Amino acid sequence: MQWGDEGKGKIVDLLIPDYDINVRFQGGNNAGHTVKFGTQHFALHLIPSGILHEGKICVLGNGMVIDPEALTSEMEHLRSRGIRMDGNLFISDRAQLILPHHKLLDKAREDSLKERSIGTTGRGIGPSYESKIFRYGLRTGDLQDRDVMKMKLDKLIPALSGLLEKVYGVTSPGVEETIQFLDTYMESILPHLADTAVLINSMGQIGRSILFEGAQGTMLDVDHGTYPFVTSSNCTVGGVLTGSGASPHLLGSIMGVLKAYTTRVGGGPFPTELKDKFGDKLRSRGNEFGTTTGRPRRTGWLDLVAARYAVMLNGINQIALTKLDVLDDFEEIPICTKYRLKGTVVESPPAADKAMAKVSPDFDHLPGWAEQTTSVTRYEDLPANARHYVEYIEDFLKVKATIISTGPRREETIVRN
Ligand code: GDP
Ligand code: IMO
Ligand code: MG
Repeated sequence: MQWGDEGKGKIVDLLIPDYDINVRFQGGNNAGHTVKFGTQHFALHLIPSGILHEGKICVLGNGMVIDPEALTSEMEHLRSRGIRMDGNLFISDRAQLILPHHKLLDKAREDSLKERSIGTTGRGIGPSYESKIFRYGLRTGDLQDRDVMKMKLDKLIPALSGLLEKVYGVTSPGVEETIQFLDTYMESILPHLADTAVLINSMGQIGRSILFEGAQGTMLDVDHGTYPFVTSSNCTVGGVLTGSGASPHLLGSIMGVLKAYTTRVGGGPFPTELKDKFGDKLRSRGNEFGTTTGRPRRTGWLDLVAARYAVMLNGINQIALTKLDVLDDFEEIPICTKYRLKGTVVESPPAADKAMAKVSPDFDHLPGWAEQTTSVTRYEDLPANARHYVEYIEDFLKVKATIISTGPRREETIVRN
């Protein structure tokens, strides 16, 4: 519901026992989803969090961009930790591939943007989606036929290399070298390819339940987020359909994952950002350092204007409120309920990034609880002021927080319904 890193990995891990299938539908290894239980700690980037549960089918949908090297190393890492991946992991034959050229372009673009840089994860996400939209991208399914692969690369590689060389002065691998690069990963990818839209819809038709796991966040959505400081996919609910091929009839409940405060990684407007000791305290208490890049995350108070926008865009009918425990040690907790722009009240995020950068947040000040909530598992056991904080959010957003997370581990959760 925000700018990513809300704790989606933890929530998916918690919900998946009730589902048969777990689908990722957009993004790539820019995502970092952390799952912790007992003494175990996993950081997932491409593979749905459900892979950690025996007997679940996991799907990488057509809307994703897949770096074959990153996928292979994630699979190898998971296997080395005893996770099984045969017959339970399906990769869409229509997903786009991320080539070394895309990563080089990502970096070259960022360097050239200087202070206007987006602060991407450098994983080649944007450039791979560009190749898709230009209609010369290489898809996973193309790996199945060498002639097709070569024919496509003969078109794609000169276009990307030309751009890299002429505009940015960067040299890049040729067609043969790229084929060799891809050959290294064929064995790990080809056996998993499938028409996953057929798989998902046929499973849905026989009543199997499907959990679609979003990556990034509403405010990073390429259409609805703080453009151009966004990722290059539709992270909002529309992306579920285009990015997986699921029929709209399969959509049921839509859960929004909302962190009890706000973070963002990289550049771009962030109305409630704190650059003071409170921001530092949120960062250290919340351990706000990127799962993917290790970068310190920018921190701020909860922004209910952005959250309400997320509820509207996604049709959210229940919320998982995460990291409530991080707020345990504050005397007072401000919460943003409106923006003002040149004195005028603004009720939703403005389109222009310049305007969004200029809005000033109006805060309501809620009393803190100065009491530990870490690991609390029953709503009644939360301090009264913590419950007041939760109920204030619910009243404002008109959505119930059915899950409240009080620590990184699976066990540290309040399930209210
Ligand atoms: P995602 O990208 O949305 O899956 O979130 P990340 O995994 O990138 O970041 C969330 C971080 O917060 C991870 O380190 C989680 O282990 C941690 N986390 C999740 N829920 C809670 C919580 O309720 N309390 C605390 N203290 N940490 C949490
Ligand atoms: P999860 O799924 C937080 C941010 C980057 C950058 C912008 C564009 O873990 O919540 P990109 O590499 O996608 O082109 O970068 O988007 N970003 C994320 N921020 N969490 C993520 O994923 C992110 N994925 C991308 O920091 O500002
Ligand atoms: Mg993350």
